[in-house]
Amino acid sequence: MNFGSVSKMSRLDVGSGEMEAVEVLVHVLGFELWRWLNYNHGVPDEFASPINASTRICAVYGFPIRHSASPAMQNAGFAALGLNWRYVACEVAPETLRAAIEGAKTMRLVGMNLTVPHKLLAVDFVDAFDESVKNWGAVNTVRIEGRDKNGTWLPIYEFTDAQPDKIRAQGFNTDAEAITRSLNEDLGIQLAGARVLLLGAGGAGRVAALKLAAENVAELFLVNRTHSKASAVAAEIRRRHMNVKIQVGYPRGEVDLCINATSLGLSPNDPLPFDNKQFSLRQAMAVYDMIYRPAETPFLAMAKAGGSRIANGLGMLLYQGAKSLEIWSGKTAPVAVMREALVKNIYGANGSK
Ligand code: ATR
Repeated sequence: MNFGSVSKMSRLDVGSGEMEAVEVLVHVLGFELWRWLNYNHGVPDEFASPINASTRICAVYGFPIRHSASPAMQNAGFAALGLNWRYVACEVAPETLRAAIEGAKTMRLVGMNLTVPHKLLAVDFVDAFDESVKNWGAVNTVRIEGRDKNGTWLPIYEFTDAQPDKIRAQGFNTDAEAITRSLNEDLGIQLAGARVLLLGAGGAGRVAALKLAAENVAELFLVNRTHSKASAVAAEIRRRHMNVKIQVGYPRGEVDLCINATSLGLSPNDPLPFDNKQFSLRQAMAVYDMIYRPAETPFLAMAKAGGSRIANGLGMLLYQGAKSLEIWSGKTAPVAVMREALVKNIYGANGSK
């Protein structure tokens, strides 16, 4: 039974005489029928487009994946744009990532996001790269594309009648852009010319360091538990961005920004991600924690108490997802709607989760 089309008909196609007839019917058949005719009037947006044979699928692949807030964010975005698309989370073990990407091509998914531990692995499994993957060395977004008879690659969902002669998975990276967008919008930071202390040189730390250098920070201080990883990132930056002064170790004096890109703070008993005998957060004008769950880590709480401006990593999650949606759909992402869905999913309806 298609309640949506019945309700649409009752609003658009029923003339006044017919309406009277409907009302008589209502009296005859009772209140239930009236409710049925009006069924769709107060239905929230996310149910506006029912799943049917035209519904297109996006997915996030990760291992584990059950914690992911991306389905809530992306489905809210799709609904706000009126797309008959759905976004699902798939638990994909690393040894099956190649098969899962091939499967997405076979089943003509719109595209995927990739999260831990797939971002580096996928570089070998996609068929083409966007410039962003060449820059940052990791894939977090895949668009499935088909080649038309003129040899042009188009999003696969644009093929309705004509068939593509070939299908490919193109990789993108939207994480790096999301870091700077969040720093700009959530902390009001102008990165060019800034002094920055970055804690962590793992996957997220490395991309952040390279992106900060590409934004022409004046000085970048890198600290990591495993010193050799920080040195390797510093060497890469010296090679690629000769104008940036980069140093492994803590800064003297003030910095414009201190970023936590380690995983310390995810668990309540974690130590602080820096050595407070060597550095005080009072030296930092602004402090950013890539962790967003909990909303305020002890690191951020300490920074706030010391008078620094603070922001957590929710903005990074939001902006990488918004950019993915734009890559898939070609439309401007409804960022406010997506943010609201994320906040509700991660922190609960009243922000208390
Ligand atoms: P991600 O992709 O999220 O960056 P990752 O590559 O595993 O994950 O990086 C985790 C970061 O947190 C690294 O900087 C790591 O330091 P090491 O390179 O020395 O492993 C840091 N980290 C994790 N646990 C830590 C701990 N107990 N103390 C200090 N740093 C830690």
